[in-house]
Amino acid sequence: MARDLWDPERLPDLSGRRYLVTGATAGLGFFSSLQLAGAGAHVIMTGRNPHRLAAARAAVQRHYGEADVETLLLDTSNLGSVRAAAATARGRTGLHGLLLNAGIVHPPREREETHDGHEIVFATNALGHYALAGELLLALAAGRGRMVWVGSMSTSLTPMELIDPELQNEYTPWRAYVQSKIATTALGFEADRRLRAAHVPISSVVAHPGYSLSGRTRGIIGINAPGRLKRFTANLQAPITQSKEQGAWTLVRALVDPAVEGGQFWGPSRGVSGPPRPATPARGTRDPELAARLWNYCEHATGTVWPYLKASKARRR
Ligand SMILES: NC(=O)c1ccc[n+]([C@@H]2O[C@H](COP(=O)([O-])OP(=O)(O)OC[C@H]3O[C@@H](n4cnc5c(N)ncnc54)[C@H](OP(=O)(O)O)[C@@H]3O)[C@@H](O)[C@H]2O)c1
Repeated sequence: MARDLWDPERLPDLSGRRYLVTGATAGLGFFSSLQLAGAGAHVIMTGRNPHRLAAARAAVQRHYGEADVETLLLDTSNLGSVRAAAATARGRTGLHGLLLNAGIVHPPREREETHDGHEIVFATNALGHYALAGELLLALAAGRGRMVWVGSMSTSLTPMELIDPELQNEYTPWRAYVQSKIATTALGFEADRRLRAAHVPISSVVAHPGYSLSGRTRGIIGINAPGRLKRFTANLQAPITQSKEQGAWTLVRALVDPAVEGGQFWGPSRGVSGPPRPATPARGTRDPELAARLWNYCEHATGTVWPYLKASKARRR
């Protein structure tokens, strides 16, 4: 195998390229936006809270005075918000990448539903991203772009069968999280199969950030301010963790490296930490029958059918 020359701290020049990031107000989404902006990309930072979004944009601009960033309100748990944001983003010229990162990582103790009547963790982490990617398919096709879905090692640690994605029965917070990540990963692979079959010039990739803790991440006003106890417990786990900044390396490479191919799964080299490498996804996430059932469910639940035919004819912009 050829030597891997990718340096996550020296990205190629991304001037003239446009990326949309969900959950850009904190953690991996913020640091991915920062890294993209630092390489000269135009970044559409999205989030559900206008104050946190303004703080995130200000933080990027403090790092890079010339950063080309805009903000857009987008709550992935709310299908109306997803459609409204997509309508605004579509008005721009072609999109080169979509980082589907927003997520509930600490699910509620008891099962909760969104305004649209969906289990909140599945809705936020998987369903909203399925709808967003579908709504932005033409813009992405015009940019010959790529979508990156954010998976998790938890899918390998706790194999589960995705029989009841909305957890009508047997809800637990951990089950809700792992199932939402199995769904996200399976949707990412299924998207690539469907886009290829329809000759749409978009690739779909899945990436996971290992185990990335805010307690191991530098403090940034308005973005990351862990208390002493959090720092202390995070440092105790130093051998098996990394910072969110390092976790973002894998997501960003999956999004921008021309050598990354659709249908691939990427993660940190040591599983929990390290520079980005191709990784092995959990077996359950690779099952095409499960993914096809899930896809049909998402079409029905969101009322969004991806416009493959139009996207396959989209003109480059
Ligand atoms: N950290 C890890 O070790 C790890 C491991 C595996 C996978 N992941 C995945 O990586 C992604 C980011 O995780 P993280 O560690 O960066 O978490 P985080 O620090 O808690 O950040 C989560 C981000 O998602 C946003 N978000 C939550 N609900 C949202 C909604 N309904 N609409 C829009 N944005 C919403 C949050 O926005 P607010 O600021 O408004 O709360 C925040 O910007 C998640 O998908 C997670 O499952 C993380």
